[in-house]
Amino acid sequence: MSIKKKMFVFYGLLMVGFIFILVVVDVFFASRFFIYESKKQMSEICSSLKEEFPEFEKSDLSDFDDYLENLDERRNVKIFVVNSSDELIFKNRLIESDEAKNKLPKMWSKFFHSHIDKLDDNKQHYEVFRNRDDALHRVVLMSKLNDNYYLILSRSLRSIQDNVRISNKLIIIIGISVFIIGTILVFFLARRMSDSVIKINSAAKSIANLDFTQKVQVKERGEIGELANSINIISDKLNESINSLKESVISREQLIRDMSHELKTPIAAIKGYAEGLKYGIASDRQKSEKYCDVIVSQCDEMNNLVKSMLNLSKMDNMKGDVEKDTFLISDFNSIIKESFEIKLLEKNINFVTDEYIDKDIYANYTLMQQAVSNYVDNAIRYAKKGGTVKLNYLWEDNGLKITVFNTGDKIDESELEHLWDAFYKVDKSRTQNGTANYGVGLAIVKKIAEIHNGKVWVENRNDGVLFGIFIPQ
Ligand SMILES: Nc1ncnc2c1ncn2[C@@H]1O[C@H](COP(=O)(O)OP(=O)(O)OP(=O)(O)O)[C@@H](O)[C@H]1O
Ligand SMILES: [Mg+2]
Repeated sequence: MSIKKKMFVFYGLLMVGFIFILVVVDVFFASRFFIYESKKQMSEICSSLKEEFPEFEKSDLSDFDDYLENLDERRNVKIFVVNSSDELIFKNRLIESDEAKNKLPKMWSKFFHSHIDKLDDNKQHYEVFRNRDDALHRVVLMSKLNDNYYLILSRSLRSIQDNVRISNKLIIIIGISVFIIGTILVFFLARRMSDSVIKINSAAKSIANLDFTQKVQVKERGEIGELANSINIISDKLNESINSLKESVISREQLIRDMSHELKTPIAAIKGYAEGLKYGIASDRQKSEKYCDVIVSQCDEMNNLVKSMLNLSKMDNMKGDVEKDTFLISDFNSIIKESFEIKLLEKNINFVTDEYIDKDIYANYTLMQQAVSNYVDNAIRYAKKGGTVKLNYLWEDNGLKITVFNTGDKIDESELEHLWDAFYKVDKSRTQNGTANYGVGLAIVKKIAEIHNGKVWVENRNDGVLFGIFIPQ
């Protein structure tokens, strides 16, 4: 059953039940309640009269009348004073002397005499009289004022029964009006609610089909509004993670393609030279040795490539749990300098760096060595013979900036952002200045910066290019 129907049925049953209960209570309990209340009020009137007139005499009648006049609860209650021989001496008001012969009505007299013995000083006797058709008629209270006089109070029940009838009519009229107005309100409320739920449902279905374009927009606040909001958040989050997953799948595929491509050349070379050996193309010992050397050097290259790739993929999972140490920049820098001495000499490069930096850095020593070495290696490789390479350390408020500059050709602006992708090379040939290069170095530097929550950048300068890495401290 839909929410709309459920709400209708629930509301309908609630209203019908409520009206039914009101009518039942009115019919069955209103007279009982009225009798109970009447007894209480009449008993109070009786007690207060007895208290006020403990020794009631006929001579007190005018005071009695005055007193009753001010007695608020007298409303609707008839008050009689009668002597033991049925003579009425007070009937709601003072009875004039010529009326004194007034007698108690027959039915009352019978009732009065049949209970007269029971009325001790303080006892009160009640009776509910019924008329001929057995409908309630009146509540009567009898009590003894003193040895000579008796008090009789009476209240009619006819009015209450009329009232019950009228109020039942009223309840039904009000009930029907409330039902109609309520139904209209429930209709709109239920429609709004079920519309929202339908919208949420359809959005959830499209999410299940990996379509994240549909957003839930509901006017509803509260739980339904929150639910719609949560669905939208889930949709966005899923969309984001699926996209990044797609991207990473694509980039991994690209990586495998590039790596296979890179491996193809050395493998082809190895195959060629191995076949040359097998079919005796290398006729003399000198030639075969040369063939073997080529094979060994191609194997070394492949080995290097595989190592770099393993390195890169290891770094993918490193973030956060990499070990860090504090070390002196000067010590760090002299190791870098030493490791490039031969290459610098070979290309006659002028290497300029900060001589002594008495400052510490907090990072992973091995990774930092690798990052800076990759930069310096590139700088030497891509600088022209006799050029300059500068390695500088700059302290900023929140970290250390390391820059490597080399004189040489600028890099095309359109290439700059791609340099950091694995296997990306500006010059597509595999060898630069005699050494094989794969285009993995900068990708590794970028990963190392990420592992340290830092960043990398590259800028073209007037006479060369500058690469930088920032490590927050
Ligand atoms: N200092 C530089 N000057 C000019 N071009 C550079 C410089 N450093 C990097 N590049 C360009 O960026 C490309 C990517 O550099 P990266 O270090 O990733 O790879 P590589 O040096 O070609 O190979 P690998 O470092 O894997 O041996 C290089 O091929 C080169 O074209
Ligand atoms: Mg490199």
